[in-house]
Amino acid sequence: MKILILNGPNLNLLGKREPGIYGSRGFEDYLAELKILFPEVELSYYQSNHEGDLIDKIHDVGFEWDGIVLNAGAYTHTSIALQDAIRGVNTPVVEVHISNVHQREEFRHHSMISCACVGVICGFGLDSYRLAIEALKTLTSPSQQKGNKIVAKKKEENNK
Ligand code: DQA
Repeated sequence: MKILILNGPNLNLLGKREPGIYGSRGFEDYLAELKILFPEVELSYYQSNHEGDLIDKIHDVGFEWDGIVLNAGAYTHTSIALQDAIRGVNTPVVEVHISNVHQREEFRHHSMISCACVGVICGFGLDSYRLAIEALKTLTSPSQQKGNKIVAKKKEENNK
């Protein structure tokens, strides 16, 4: 199973940036722990401060990989282009945030990308990423996929 962790603007500064909100651990260090926790998952990591780079990366992996864990940083609250990119690919995308954005400034309460993602995890510190990987593993497991098909069939029948 192949999962991409995609971090957006300013997340390269994790560990140094506003540690009271984002903690004092750098992402590379945390990534090493994730790789130990999920030996069965091929975990890849990419960070960019540029919207277009993030979109290119979603296009690159979004038709073949099993999942994307996306922390779009501040682009979460502004980017229709990222929403379109997520809608444009098949790979399920989980939106994550380290902080609980709903306890913060009002402009962080709205996400432009949630509606295109399979789910949202926020507020658990760096552990939000682990929870997102767990969610993707469950979502793409064969028994869950069977369950999804049953739900889809029921919906179809209800719409008749
Ligand atoms: C963030 C929350 C965003 O509002 C902010 O712009 C970030 C980080 C988080 O992980 O909590 O850069 O996505």
